Amino acid sequence: MPATFVIFGASGDLTSRKLIPALYKLHCKKRLKDGLKVVGFSRSPFTHEEWRHELTATTKKYAGDEFKEDAWNEFAANVFYHAGDIGNAADFDSLGQFLAELEKGAAATRVYYLATAPQFYGPAVEQLGRSGLADESNGPRRVVIEKPFGVDLQSAKDLNRIVHAVFAEHQVYRIDHYLGKETVQNLLVLRFANTIFEPVWNRNYIDHVQITVAEEVVVGKRAGYYDTAGVMRDMFQNHLLQLLMITAMEAPVRYEADAVRNEKVKVLHALRSLSPEEVATDTIRGQYSGYADSPEVAPGSQTATFAAIKLSIDNWRWQGVPFYLRSGKAMSCRTTQIVIQFREPPQKLFANGASGLCGSNRLIVQVQPSEGIQLHFQTKVPDAGMKLRQTDLDFNYLREFRRPMPEAYERLLLDALEGDASLFARADEVEAAWKVCDPILKAWSAGNAPPLLSYEPGYWGPVECEQWMEAQGRQWFDTCPVLA
Ligand code: BG6
Repeated sequence: MPATFVIFGASGDLTSRKLIPALYKLHCKKRLKDGLKVVGFSRSPFTHEEWRHELTATTKKYAGDEFKEDAWNEFAANVFYHAGDIGNAADFDSLGQFLAELEKGAAATRVYYLATAPQFYGPAVEQLGRSGLADESNGPRRVVIEKPFGVDLQSAKDLNRIVHAVFAEHQVYRIDHYLGKETVQNLLVLRFANTIFEPVWNRNYIDHVQITVAEEVVVGKRAGYYDTAGVMRDMFQNHLLQLLMITAMEAPVRYEADAVRNEKVKVLHALRSLSPEEVATDTIRGQYSGYADSPEVAPGSQTATFAAIKLSIDNWRWQGVPFYLRSGKAMSCRTTQIVIQFREPPQKLFANGASGLCGSNRLIVQVQPSEGIQLHFQTKVPDAGMKLRQTDLDFNYLREFRRPMPEAYERLLLDALEGDASLFARADEVEAAWKVCDPILKAWSAGNAPPLLSYEPGYWGPVECEQWMEAQGRQWFDTCPVLA
């Protein structure tokens, strides 16, 4: 069935930076089987030609080497623009007419992508409902909703209510681009398509898990938005919790959307909610120095640009295994990694071997960059008595497959077009994620401990965070990936 991809917020940054390049690359790879028409909707008064012209320049920039004039012209011939205002019912009626003409009245799959500012998600969905555009009698109708999905549990519930008044849950695709990353999907493969990892993937063998999403960039032009969100809403509620769920979940009975999502949600339900006292002892928050100098940041802002949180999963598999999550801007380097730190051997037979957790086995899922997996283990140094040294088995995607990693959006947009919601968040999942974050945000905004610590850009967050970990007899794995 042919498909139409309608982008609300078409003149925004996400559209030109991510969505159009991803759709164009899918076109080049011939993944858009029955042809795709793309329709942009926003207030700027473009003609079809003007919008194509704009997108030619931005796609050249963002698709890099993959931009080829002929392929782009072929793709762009199916790109259209419809000017309109989300607040204006008549604009949705005329959009409906335009889409019907474009599809020549034939059955077609439609994906409505909400790439607008978040306050327009609800109104856009209501307009789609009112104008009959959600009606599935002439083909599937799906809505893709960008993050942030709400700013707390209550607002997420309110938005879910608005969405469900128009769309059934099977039509709703809440996007988290981390799930589109190859290495995140590969974590499912590593765990559930191999037999050697699962038997040790539990409290009997694992001491703790570290999930780090470090960014070198500062908030820059996004300071206005960021100051209202902070690292908790921007990164933890979505990306970090998604990584945690995939690391901790049980095997689904089948690889299909609801079976996978059921297992993920169970992890969130098992996460112990932090009391205000625990927020004081089990979380660290920081702000990089220089953050508050931006004119878009409120004077005296208490927004955290870094956080580390210790979470516990109260279930059979993970009882007593802490999950340490941390993320921040202005850190040493850009790296996203999941570190599975195994327990020490029960007996220390060799003088300098396996003493302290740093010497015990460690599995590192290097989500990005330099995507890969490493297993650290102890080896005997040759010709040096019984001297031991840590070494590793190292799998690197680029070395192994010799081709660049696709953009997360390519996979996710294709899945939305094909009706596979496995890599999208379900209503109960986003609400459960907010339930984990809300108590932390509340305690922080009440000004209670922990204090907001300052850190210098270019480090691994506040020094106190290293000390906090050391006080628990553990160490952060602070290593920047070597680019292959
Ligand atoms: C976005 C956040 O969701 O993810 C940004 O809003 C962050 O603040 C970005 O920089 C990180 O994504 P990636 O794919 O570059 O790790």
